[in-house]
Amino acid sequence: MSNPPTSFTALVQTQDGYTDTPVGHIHYDSFDDYLELKELPVPELEPGHVLVEMTMAAINPSDLHFLKGEYGQPRELGKAAGFEGVGTIVASGIDAYAQSLIGQRVSFVASPTGSGTWATHAIADAMLCIPMPDTVSDPNAAGFIVNPLTAAAMFDEAKQAGSPAIVVTAGASQVSKFLIALARDAGMASIAIVRRDVHNDTLNELGVTEILNQNDEDFAQKLVAAMKTHKPQMFIDAVVDETSTQIFNAMGKNSTWLIYGSLSPDLPPLSNPGELIFQNKVIRGFWLTPWLTATSLEDKIGVFGEVQARFGDGRWNTDVGATLSIDKVMDDLAEVLKDPRGKVFLTP
Ligand SMILES: NC(=O)c1ccc[n+]([C@@H]2O[C@H](COP(=O)([O-])OP(=O)(O)OC[C@H]3O[C@@H](n4cnc5c(N)ncnc54)[C@H](OP(=O)(O)O)[C@@H]3O)[C@@H](O)[C@H]2O)c1
Repeated sequence: MSNPPTSFTALVQTQDGYTDTPVGHIHYDSFDDYLELKELPVPELEPGHVLVEMTMAAINPSDLHFLKGEYGQPRELGKAAGFEGVGTIVASGIDAYAQSLIGQRVSFVASPTGSGTWATHAIADAMLCIPMPDTVSDPNAAGFIVNPLTAAAMFDEAKQAGSPAIVVTAGASQVSKFLIALARDAGMASIAIVRRDVHNDTLNELGVTEILNQNDEDFAQKLVAAMKTHKPQMFIDAVVDETSTQIFNAMGKNSTWLIYGSLSPDLPPLSNPGELIFQNKVIRGFWLTPWLTATSLEDKIGVFGEVQARFGDGRWNTDVGATLSIDKVMDDLAEVLKDPRGKVFLTP
């Protein structure tokens, strides 16, 4: 292995903290106000830190909310952006465990003390690096943590609740596609809500039970019919708008509206508080970060193994919408994100 570099190139954040003027959507006309391509020195690695030579990094909605200052943690001026990715460890701090990882291909999430994944190299926390077998492709490895674990954790909630079916909004999002595959494999029905029919073939191939387009004129009738047929008690919602309220209202007693994203800038009306009072219906949120802290290492290792197995044997796959090198981001990313039909990935 060649000597580790003394500097690296990164897309660094040009804003700090949270925004005072939230817009509540992840549309970008340009990234000029948020990112800058810069050369940074590789710092002396602390014990427990490793230097990862990046292979691929995911672009998730969480990254796009974060850059706008609308995510659950503040921006850090001058620090590389990007929450997750895959690469090879090329150096480490003085620490037996970190040193033992040198040469390994790993998936990882950026740690608060390290740096982001939208770069040629990233400083990562060795304890957050998951060695990846060759059976997991680069796109699946680059998106190994945030979406798969979120889908696995939320699906577990649906199973624990004994729900006969799940309803998912943003039906063709990667999280929803993982959820639909989990439901298929567990013999549970899945109802995917979409806003465009372009995703229908993909969802049907995945084994979705019903697809409802929220823009169809007869959406309301089809929704009520689907609720009667499948009786879902778990509504897993990434959009959170007026349609979400309509879906929740159509669900039966003891149903849960699990909010884990906020893709729509429109707020949902709470049109029937009586549902919460008299029908034991519940609205609550899900965020992976506290789930990761609260879940034991043993249980997490079990979930990582299951995710690797699912990617390895094809029960799960991350659809690649586009791949862009980091030096093209400032010019091309906003355009590429307009209609990706799958995840967009960055390469060094
Ligand atoms: N809470 C957590 O811990 C956690 C963890 C992971 C992900 N998430 C959230 O999960 C959601 C999905 O993430 P992902 O990576 O799976 O997404 P993704 O693959 O990037 O797909 C985004 C999807 O959202 C749809 N969409 C965007 N805006 C919409 C709107 N206003 N109304 C309806 N559909 C809309 C798009 O539909 P079109 O194709 O029609 O444009 C697209 O299918 C995001 O909100 C993300 O923040 C949360």
